[in-house]
Amino acid sequence: MSILQIKDLTFSYHKDNVLEDINLNVEEKDFIAIIGPNGGGKSTLLKLILGINDIQNGSINISESIGYVPQNTNINTSFPIKVIEVVVMGHINEKRPLFGYSKNEISCAMDALKQVSMEDYANHRIGSLSGGQRQRIMIARALCAHPKILLLDEPTSSIDVEGQKQIYDLLKELNKSITIIVVSHDISVILGFASKVAHINKTLTFHDTHLSKEFNTQDEHFCEVELLQMLNKKSIKNCEC
Ligand SMILES: Nc1ncnc2c1ncn2[C@@H]1O[C@H](COP(=O)(O)OP(=O)(O)O)[C@@H](O)[C@H]1O
Ligand SMILES: [Mg+2]
Repeated sequence: MSILQIKDLTFSYHKDNVLEDINLNVEEKDFIAIIGPNGGGKSTLLKLILGINDIQNGSINISESIGYVPQNTNINTSFPIKVIEVVVMGHINEKRPLFGYSKNEISCAMDALKQVSMEDYANHRIGSLSGGQRQRIMIARALCAHPKILLLDEPTSSIDVEGQKQIYDLLKELNKSITIIVVSHDISVILGFASKVAHINKTLTFHDTHLSKEFNTQDEHFCEVELLQMLNKKSIKNCEC
């Protein structure tokens, strides 16, 4: 069942189009990797899905609730805030008051921490955690509102290889009940986990729904150009690897 449909989407911040004629269908329980070069429009696409950017041309239809883990959640690590306080903030929406969380909301935040195996850290300061642990907390924060679709924008960009794998293992587990859309630069890693891949560089260059087994290896490292060649599609000039 399709839960997110993007049709003929074109978007520009100023004059030039950043995204052009994007069409993408997301089915329930998909695990979609969005790859592509820097400046290719990946974050812009996520912001359009989230309604942070207004639609100009085309349409996006979403039938389920969305959670979001933004790119570069640079936090001031000396800011005195506890893990549980960060996670419970995931409940914030336009309708709820700014201060004071109900017992229910706090227990929900604890459940989200359990989902990412970080419940023992509830009362630790966020600044005392490793990059990978902090990213798990940001995922728990997004899970707080029980989303059916989880969007993540380069969730492992500043995390070591082992930490990356742990995050993707976690996403794979969450994918049993949640649709995952993840923007990633870690092509060789993400392809071991994703069920679909979409390459975006202004246009959607390809959208492959059947990742072949040869990509499902975490031992080999290959770049976008190689990936595209392996898929027998036209090659991309800006390889970033
Ligand atoms: N808020 C903004 N205002 C103007 N231009 C922007 C803004 N955000 C992104 N851009 C531009 O849009 C293009 C796509 O950016 P982005 O969606 O962040 O790409 P990606 O996430 O693939 O790296 C880039 O050229 C970027 O400079
Ligand atoms: Mg981006």
